[in-house]
Amino acid sequence: MRAGILVLALLACAACSTAPGTAPTSGAGAGNLPAAAKVDYQIGGAYPPAADARIVERDRTDKPVKGRYNICYLNAFQTQPDETPSWRKDHDSLLLRDAAGNYVVDREWNETLLDISTPESRTELLAVISPWIDTCTQDGFDAAELDNLDSYTRSNGRLTAADAIEFSAALAHRAHAQGLAVAQKNAPALAAAREDTGFDFAIVEECQANAECELFTKVYDSAMIEIEYSEPAFRAACAARGTSVSIVLRDRGVLPAGRPGYLNRYCGA
Ligand SMILES: *[C@@H]1O[C@H](CO)[C@@H](O)[C@H](O)[C@H]1NC(C)=O
Repeated sequence: MRAGILVLALLACAACSTAPGTAPTSGAGAGNLPAAAKVDYQIGGAYPPAADARIVERDRTDKPVKGRYNICYLNAFQTQPDETPSWRKDHDSLLLRDAAGNYVVDREWNETLLDISTPESRTELLAVISPWIDTCTQDGFDAAELDNLDSYTRSNGRLTAADAIEFSAALAHRAHAQGLAVAQKNAPALAAAREDTGFDFAIVEECQANAECELFTKVYDSAMIEIEYSEPAFRAACAARGTSVSIVLRDRGVLPAGRPGYLNRYCGA
C-alpha cells in the first residue's frame, strides 16, 4: 500500500515542478483543522500537551499525539543549524551563495538559505525534502508547516517571491498527494498567492505586533494559527480575533514545558 501511495505521489510531482500553477488539490487534513482552538506549539522540544489543546505542533523528528490535530514542523527554505554540516557535505550546490561565493545565512538563527532560484535546484531540493514530508504522513501527522517561506526577503535579492511560490507549490503538491495539509508560515506578501502555492491554512508569528493580521485573515479567514510573543499584542489579538482564530502566547525560545521561562497561554485564560 505504502509503495503504491509513494508511486502516486511521485507521478503527481513529476508535473508539479514544471506546472505548479495547475490548481493544487488540498490535503485531506485541511478540513479538520479546528478553529479558535487551543494550540500547543512545541517546535522547541516535545512534551505532553495540555489536555485541552486540540492542535499540537512538533518537529518532524518527534511523533504526533493521538486524538489531536498534529502539525509537523519542517524547515523547507533554510537549513536547521545542526544540519548545516551535512547539507554542505551532501548537497553543497543547493545552499545559496552571494556574488562573492559566500553562503547566504539568516544571522538571527544561523541557518543557511536553500537555493530555490532555478527549476533544477528546486527539483533537487524536492528530492531531499520530500522524504521528510513522506515521514510526516507515515508517522500520522495531519499537516506540515514549511518554515522560512520568507527566506527570499533575507536573500539580498538572490531569491524572489516567485521562487518561493514555485517551490511551495511543488511541496504542497507532494503533501496533498498523500492527504497531508500544508501551512503557509508568515510571509504576509505571499498570502494573496494562495491559489498558486496551494496552502491550506496559515501559521503566523506576531501578526498583531506587526499589524499585518488582516493580510492573512482576508485570505485564510479562521484557517489560521497565530503565535504572539508579547502580552499586550496577545491581549489585543484575543480581543480582535479570539473567537475565530487559534491564538497562543508563547515565550520567544518556544521552550518545552517545565523549563524556566516557559510561557503558554490561551485567549480567555
Ligand atoms: C553557524 O553554523 C556554521 C555551520 O554549521 C558553524 O560553522 C558556525 O560555528 C555557526 N556559528 C554560530 C555562531 O553558531
